[in-house]
Amino acid sequence: MRLMIKNLIISRVEKAINEIFGKKPVGLVLSYPPTVDLGDFAIECFSLAKELGEAPEKIAEKIAEEIVPDKIIESVQAVGPYLNFKINKTLLFKEVLEEIFSEKENFGNLKACPEPSRRIMVEYLSPNTNKPLHLGHIRNGVLGMAISRLMESAGYKIIKANLINDRGIHICQSMLAWKKWGNAETPESAGAKGDHFVGQWYVRYHQEFNKNSENGEALEKESREMLQKWEAADSEIIKLWKMMNKWVYQGFEETYKELGLEFDVLNYESETYKLGKEIVDEGLKNGVFVKTDDGAIIAELENGQKITLLRRDGTSVYITQDLGTAKLRFDNYRPDELIYITGIEQDFHFENLFKILKTLGFEWANKLRHLSYGMVNLPEGKMKSREGKVVDADDLIAGMKKLAAEEIRKRHPELSREKIVERAKKIGIGAIKFYLLRVKPNQEINFNPEESISFDGFTGPYVQYAFARASGIILRTSDVHRLENVDFSVLVDGKESILLRYLIQFPAKIKSAIDGFNPAIVSEHIFEIAKAFNNFYTFCPVLAAENEELKKARLALVKAVAIVLKKGLNLLGIEDLEEM
Ligand code: ARG
Repeated sequence: MRLMIKNLIISRVEKAINEIFGKKPVGLVLSYPPTVDLGDFAIECFSLAKELGEAPEKIAEKIAEEIVPDKIIESVQAVGPYLNFKINKTLLFKEVLEEIFSEKENFGNLKACPEPSRRIMVEYLSPNTNKPLHLGHIRNGVLGMAISRLMESAGYKIIKANLINDRGIHICQSMLAWKKWGNAETPESAGAKGDHFVGQWYVRYHQEFNKNSENGEALEKESREMLQKWEAADSEIIKLWKMMNKWVYQGFEETYKELGLEFDVLNYESETYKLGKEIVDEGLKNGVFVKTDDGAIIAELENGQKITLLRRDGTSVYITQDLGTAKLRFDNYRPDELIYITGIEQDFHFENLFKILKTLGFEWANKLRHLSYGMVNLPEGKMKSREGKVVDADDLIAGMKKLAAEEIRKRHPELSREKIVERAKKIGIGAIKFYLLRVKPNQEINFNPEESISFDGFTGPYVQYAFARASGIILRTSDVHRLENVDFSVLVDGKESILLRYLIQFPAKIKSAIDGFNPAIVSEHIFEIAKAFNNFYTFCPVLAAENEELKKARLALVKAVAIVLKKGLNLLGIEDLEEM
């Protein structure tokens, strides 16, 4: 936030330090006292201790004595090593609201991002084409979008990438099953979504495989042969592969749309695994990798860890394509950083991948980052997936939309079906996203559908509802768009000050969320704003305020709250609604 008041505080402190110590300190940082009663802004003096050669508490005391309160800075207090400042409320309201009104949806965007033109490639989702998406993918996608949006808001150029695992033995297994037992059925003829259709054949393969060991062995052999044929570009197999993958992509597309997932770049493992093999061969030639006695090619890491890069039959493994994919990305897109988002179970894989790329000497190998997230479980008995193990993404989405529709119908029995469906989508999907984004990425989640959809509690619908309420007030009046003749001195209620405080802190929260790759900081903050707003709404009449002046000032505050809530929701990839 580019508040004049902030600069004023800093310059007053600098001046005081100069008077007392004869030095000009660098890099004073403004923060916030823990409660409104303590003050509006704070400066900590720890970092000054060394420079000024005195204890932080003493420094704070001396500065507090030196600064003479005036019309803007009403009081300065030393509390331990902190300096707390109380600012004239009228001025603070005016400055903050003016900024929000003029910045609108850009409020909170950090103009001072370290290097404005930094290009960041964010890889997320990265599904396999033998099954439909599951709940883990939803967390991945939702996290990918939120991180991308947050970083974009700070001026980073984001390239959203999806790596599709479209080849390999598991892909051949669904192909083989369809070929054997599919009777030329298609998703269309079966009335199934493409990815679910293909997923069924993958399941069928394993059912047949498990029937008896003889059966299993024969199938295993056949799928291996199919993979070899695929690698030899056998035209019939390639045709089958293309057809089935296309079905899957059509299915994925629908789910992406439901969740609002977008990608700028699609990488396919079928297009990078060969490049990976070349890198391995090159590494072997240069003595970076070694060939074992049985013919496999491995990397020996410093810690003694041995990582297989090519099997002894020369076929590639999971990490092989990642070597190729990373190189292709840096060659083609030249990002300043590449962030991979995956489940926590892949931590080891990425640790090894990064080490190997460094050993190979790629100059971009230090530009890689892995962001992992914890498991998402669905409590027993809730929306069980068809195979009973993983929770299917589409089932969950449908279930959440249904729950949302029931809730809306309860509240608005008069609404048309169309309207209900439209709102249920925003609320149901918003509920999922918020629930997945309200805790740190590395934290495990027990997804509770009923809890997540509740209009009351730490949920998406609660925040959406606060926004809808605020919008409802603004929509019912026309005189809320200009601040020129609003008198903010009438805002004297503590509930208004708390709202103001949350609005002031919003930009800093976005920054922490970006710095820590943790959208939960934004979720928590907009939840706090929503709570403070509901409390304000209960006790402080707006349209029915005691007088015209108070009404105008409160309306301005409500509008600012609406702008910030909408912005916060949108940064998380959650849609807002004006009516709920
Ligand atoms: N397709 C992989 C899986 O489903 C995830 C890929 C993650 N990204 C990567 N560059 N390895 O487990």
